[in-house]
Amino acid sequence: MTNRKGFPDGFLFGAATSAYQIEGHAYGGAGPTLWDSFAAKPGKVVNGETGAIACDHYHRFEQDLDLLKGFDAYRFSTSWARVLPDGKGPINQQGLDFYDRLVDAILARGLQPHLTLYHWDMPAALDDLGGWTNPDVVNWFGDYCDIIMGRIGDRMASVATLNEPWCVTYLSYFLGHHAPGLRDIFATTKSVHNVLKAHGEALARLRSHGQKNLGIVLNFEALKPASQSGADLNATRCYDAIMNRMFVQPVFSGTYPEPVLDAFAPHLPANWQDDMAMISAPIDWLGVNYYTCKTVVAEPATPWPHLGFISSDQPKTQMEWDICPEGLFEILHWLQQEFAGAMPVFITENGIALADTIKDGIIEDQTRVCFINTHLQQVQKAIDHGINVKGYFYWSLLDNFEWAFGYEKRFGLIHVDFETQKRTPKSSFYHLQSLATGAKNTG
Ligand code: FCB
Repeated sequence: MTNRKGFPDGFLFGAATSAYQIEGHAYGGAGPTLWDSFAAKPGKVVNGETGAIACDHYHRFEQDLDLLKGFDAYRFSTSWARVLPDGKGPINQQGLDFYDRLVDAILARGLQPHLTLYHWDMPAALDDLGGWTNPDVVNWFGDYCDIIMGRIGDRMASVATLNEPWCVTYLSYFLGHHAPGLRDIFATTKSVHNVLKAHGEALARLRSHGQKNLGIVLNFEALKPASQSGADLNATRCYDAIMNRMFVQPVFSGTYPEPVLDAFAPHLPANWQDDMAMISAPIDWLGVNYYTCKTVVAEPATPWPHLGFISSDQPKTQMEWDICPEGLFEILHWLQQEFAGAMPVFITENGIALADTIKDGIIEDQTRVCFINTHLQQVQKAIDHGINVKGYFYWSLLDNFEWAFGYEKRFGLIHVDFETQKRTPKSSFYHLQSLATGAKNTG
């Protein structure tokens, strides 16, 4: 049965955040992360900004969660370096206590807690040892997961091992845009394989403790070729493997996609095939992050992967990302057909950065309202096609530290004045809240 808003009973409306982007890493005894090391290098992060203060959510989480009145669910992450300041070894009890209070506060407001164990805040001490390129990271991560889940696992609605492994690896070790900022195919290959193993290790450990509802959050882009030429079609196939298949295929099928394997094979560890069984252990749900689409063009004269992107005439966000809601249905449909089948799928992130301005205490962000509506229409279409979409989390609850872009890009439903920490809900916030409330009351 669907309710008047066209969503099935039990469909979750939520908002998402991540620890380093909002908490204020300077507080509560957290250790430095690789983003602190990265931001200290000139030119890596806009204005050299960090998550040191961010939204001061560490002190303001109660008020921030009050804002989620009427929503069903909240997606958040725990910070590895907050709980283990050196990445391993002594625990920062204050950090664990914080997450304990946070989870109780989420539940006290009738919200379901959806946890992500890794949203990019690798402790700097471990990054110094090679971070995701060091094979020991698999156990380091497993130990960290055990510690977190030992404290808050009893209250989780769902648990994701990692957020967007593509960004953790390709964007960070191959393109160099994110910390640690390398451009190295050897390091990239190692990081991809180790991230996948860390996912498998975390699953195995959490299952052994009886933890339920485990998944992973992957990011996807809708792609199309610049032309029907063989070269552009091949380039699109290659980028599809890199962008869309590099993680979902190993996780579901235990294999690497072809064009990626060709490039990676010489750099994979000996007997890597033996790891694919743990990597493809069953999960319970899939998280889909969707923001944009791209048009791919062959660029044979450039280094691997010999391709680029052409600018389209689609409207763009403050990030210069194309706005293409139809791509969300395409991705959901493809995932259902090829990998997920009837498995529950959550839209774990979808959102838009805009240069929001406050006038007389009001933020009219109609473009964001429209973005949310058009993407939710695609979710409805997916549900109508029998795709098992169980919820939609807008990215993000608050304007926050947008990684290499610092505080310039605003994705929030709630405006944050980073000088005063004043929160001001935008029109889009009231819009999504009323959808959530309406959907719940009429189910
Ligand atoms: C995703 C990240 C999230 C945020 C949004 C805009 O790739 O998961 O932290 O940066 O993009």
